[in-house]
Amino acid sequence: MRLANTFAVVTGGSDGIGCAIAEAFAREGADLCLVARNPGKLADAAARLAANGTRVVTVAADLGQPDGLERAAAEIGGFGRAVHTLVNNAGTATFVPYLEADRAQYEHSVALNVTAPFFLTQALVPLMPAEGGAVINISSYFAGKMLPGRPSSLYSLTKGALNSLTKAMAYELAPRGIRVNAIAPGTVDTELRRRTIAAMPEDDQRAMAELVKRLYPLGRIGKAGDLGGIAVFLASPEATWTTGAVFAIDGGLTIT
Ligand SMILES: NC(=O)c1ccc[n+]([C@@H]2O[C@H](COP(=O)([O-])OP(=O)(O)OC[C@H]3O[C@@H](n4cnc5c(N)ncnc54)[C@H](OP(=O)(O)O)[C@@H]3O)[C@@H](O)[C@H]2O)c1
Repeated sequence: MRLANTFAVVTGGSDGIGCAIAEAFAREGADLCLVARNPGKLADAAARLAANGTRVVTVAADLGQPDGLERAAAEIGGFGRAVHTLVNNAGTATFVPYLEADRAQYEHSVALNVTAPFFLTQALVPLMPAEGGAVINISSYFAGKMLPGRPSSLYSLTKGALNSLTKAMAYELAPRGIRVNAIAPGTVDTELRRRTIAAMPEDDQRAMAELVKRLYPLGRIGKAGDLGGIAVFLASPEATWTTGAVFAIDGGLTIT
């Protein structure tokens, strides 16, 4: 087991991509801390993992709020465990035309997608073992690719910032043996995506389905489980010379 005797913190670990990464880590022997807002969903995810013998703790906190972020860091410290891996996965995707985006939407997007990874990592680095650790930021193809019908200025700016932050943190934390990488998924079929699509007018929903067929060289959007393998690799000793990289895991979307 490639992650035996390690402790991994996964934000947004109760659902979607974060939950699939937590499951992949558990299969490789990691102990887990899941962080999200809804205590019921956290308890369900923890129970599923614990049923297979994984040691799991949870922290219920809103990482988009300064006090939630601080409390989460303090509670994680309170577990008294060295943190080997941090996955900054919790995120929000707001698609509104640039000319209509308001201050509250801007601040919410930046708070959860950029400020939370920035300060949670800063708070947890001192908990990483002397031999080093791994930070994995979950970015998005929207950092660099725009799609018709998907006004992404708010979302793209946050994921572009996260990619830059990944490289800068990798550089600054390398002397501590901490590797920082990002995974930039293509569209993945999760609750977040289903909610976003459901909010679109029906014509746009049909156009989106057609677009997916045309855009993905591998012919489909992703499943959350498609991200588990790369996350395990980045957390594991196999990736000891890998840092500051942004991995496109997107069925070929960004080569078109
Ligand atoms: N799905 C896609 O197509 C796709 C594509 C590229 C990149 N991504 C990125 O992948 C990441 C995960 O997306 P997903 O689609 O898996 O989302 P999801 O299915 O909606 O799950 C989001 C997770 O984050 C938690 N969360 C949401 N807001 C939070 C907050 N303010 N504080 C703490 N936890 C919070 C949720 O739990 P609670 O609601 O209980 O808080 C849940 O566990 C995001 O960073 C997203 O930008 C997604």
